[in-house]
Amino acid sequence: MLEGTVAFVTGGGSGIGRGIALCLAAHGAAVVVSDLDAEMSRAAADEVKASGGRGFAVVGDVGQWEQADDVLAQGVRLAGGPVDILVNCAGLYFSVPFHQLSREAHERLYAVNVSGVFAMCQAAVPAMKARRCGKIVNIASVSGKDPFASSASYGSSKSAVIGMTKSLAKELGPYNINVNAVCPGLVYTKMQDDQCRRIAAETGRQPEDVWRQRLAAVPLGRGQEPSDIGEAVAFLASERARNVTGQALNVCGGQQMMD
Ligand SMILES: NC(=O)c1ccc[n+]([C@@H]2O[C@H](COP(=O)([O-])OP(=O)(O)OC[C@H]3O[C@@H](n4cnc5c(N)ncnc54)[C@H](O)[C@@H]3O)[C@@H](O)[C@H]2O)c1
Repeated sequence: MLEGTVAFVTGGGSGIGRGIALCLAAHGAAVVVSDLDAEMSRAAADEVKASGGRGFAVVGDVGQWEQADDVLAQGVRLAGGPVDILVNCAGLYFSVPFHQLSREAHERLYAVNVSGVFAMCQAAVPAMKARRCGKIVNIASVSGKDPFASSASYGSSKSAVIGMTKSLAKELGPYNINVNAVCPGLVYTKMQDDQCRRIAAETGRQPEDVWRQRLAAVPLGRGQEPSDIGEAVAFLASERARNVTGQALNVCGGQQMMD
């Protein structure tokens, strides 16, 4: 579906981002894996290569607005062509009662989850506009539509990503740039592992029991794999979705059914 394209995936070194990178590569894209963690970024790019694809690693902190142009330009140089597909996946999650979250933690979360998406779009869009084509896929969350308790910062950051997605879709549609979001529900990554371990420690249970209880709210009764999110991203990044824009697609086993 993506033969001949260049994709740039933030937070691509592990978890969902790594799954997306591998999936886009399997569909034929050359993939620039961007991550805060140099080792993970390189390892994920190596995995892309080992699976027969073209993978490149760059290191960048999407929470540092001023890095965006440079990190994207590094990716373009390595891949040897402009970015056709931008996937904003890097994200932070804190689950604590809102009055216990420090100002520093809240501002860092917004810098990564919201401003990071904005800055990367600003970096990528001029070349997309000039070529009159491009696909942007932002990884939001079901909690961007119906936030959980004790995650006011995270939930509202993901609502902002969904709002940004819709606004950009309207603004960039005339340039043939599609902008969509994917909203995962429960994917067992380090982010979820940390959360289950914390709840388990607080409630005297095992992390596996916490995870099982969370899955009870999912009609399909199972969590999603990073590749499930990757397949949705691949579709939205492909010409098969040429008339899909401004949408926030839930990939959550039916855990949430609102638009
Ligand atoms: N795991 C889930 O169940 C779930 C559910 C809904 C939404 N999401 C969203 O999916 C995305 C990925 O989540 P995950 O579970 O894979 O998380 P994760 O913590 O397992 O992996 C996140 C990756 O992003 C990188 N990263 C973090 N901060 C960064 C920064 N400032 N700059 C560049 N890279 C950075 C990390 O190094 C890591 O490789 C996030 O946006 C998250 O909010 C996850």
